[in-house]
Amino acid sequence: MLDTVKQLLKETANFEAKNLEEVEAFRIRILGSKGELKKLFAEFKNVAAEDKKEYGALLNQLKNEAQAKVDELKKSLQSKEKAAKFEDIDLSRPASYRSIGTRHPISITKSQIIEIFSRIGFDVSEGPEIEDDWHNFTALNFPPEHPARDMQDTFFVEKDPDLALRTHTSSVQVRVMENNKPPIRTISPGRVYRNEAISARAHCFFHQVEGLYIDKNVSFADLKQTLLYFAREVFGEETKIRLRPSYFPFTEPSAEMDVSCSICSGKGCNVCKYTGYLEILGCGMVDPNVLENCGIDSEEYTGFAFGMGVERIAQLKYNINDLRLYSENDKAFLDQFKSAL
Ligand code: DAH
Repeated sequence: MLDTVKQLLKETANFEAKNLEEVEAFRIRILGSKGELKKLFAEFKNVAAEDKKEYGALLNQLKNEAQAKVDELKKSLQSKEKAAKFEDIDLSRPASYRSIGTRHPISITKSQIIEIFSRIGFDVSEGPEIEDDWHNFTALNFPPEHPARDMQDTFFVEKDPDLALRTHTSSVQVRVMENNKPPIRTISPGRVYRNEAISARAHCFFHQVEGLYIDKNVSFADLKQTLLYFAREVFGEETKIRLRPSYFPFTEPSAEMDVSCSICSGKGCNVCKYTGYLEILGCGMVDPNVLENCGIDSEEYTGFAFGMGVERIAQLKYNINDLRLYSENDKAFLDQFKSAL
């Protein structure tokens, strides 16, 4: 009997397996419920008294060593099988294409405008899209009932006639001036709303970037130079600008700025309607009344302001001829801006 156990111990020590099936067969033969060990334990009662101690110890040794062998072989064979699976994978195969989204042309253009002005010291400020009459109109020198209010068809909030969706980002100027002391140099990008029928050339919401610079001795020459720098950064070094007199209640004098047409270089084409120039923004020197309305001493400080439509700039950069495209979420349209990321 002792010899059988010793023989099995030797077998266990020498046992090798080529695969998991062989390990399992070995486990069943030695450790299984009808296996050798079971039988040998059953023989225990027939072992001579003086051999019982040695026999018991050897059986336990066999049990432990057989179990350890099974565990060890299983582990090494399993990891070999896993590695074999990876050998079938072609690591040089091109990865499958995953479509990532694109940035919207308005976001791209807005970021570019922010970046250009941040290089000359302008920070970014924001204000609410639901605005009160004071910030959208009155502080900006639109007297009550003044026809200038009709320049901007307004969406009013039904329950509170003092509130409206802001018609321009000039409202943010007022908030910045009320809450900060000059020098102020800020741009305010944001969404604005107007009660207009939707067409290729008009929409009920769009985006503007407002600019404001207030300090001692700020002049119209500063305004012109700042806008020339901006125009050249966006449309190219050769760009020329032209300022035409205009009217806004909050600036005096006021102007509209045109840039030379980047498509025909000013020679005349259908985009610039053969004028060689494209209108891109409104601007002017901040009216002293507006400074006073916002708690800034107009004797001590002067400033300039400007406001531009982001859609308009994007239209000229990317040749987008229909305003509706910006909000239709047409994938084919948006995919064109992949490279502009
Ligand atoms: N708020 C004007 C508009 O929406 C744009 C504008 C014109 C802004 C002249 C200005 C400015 O700051 O000085 O049409």
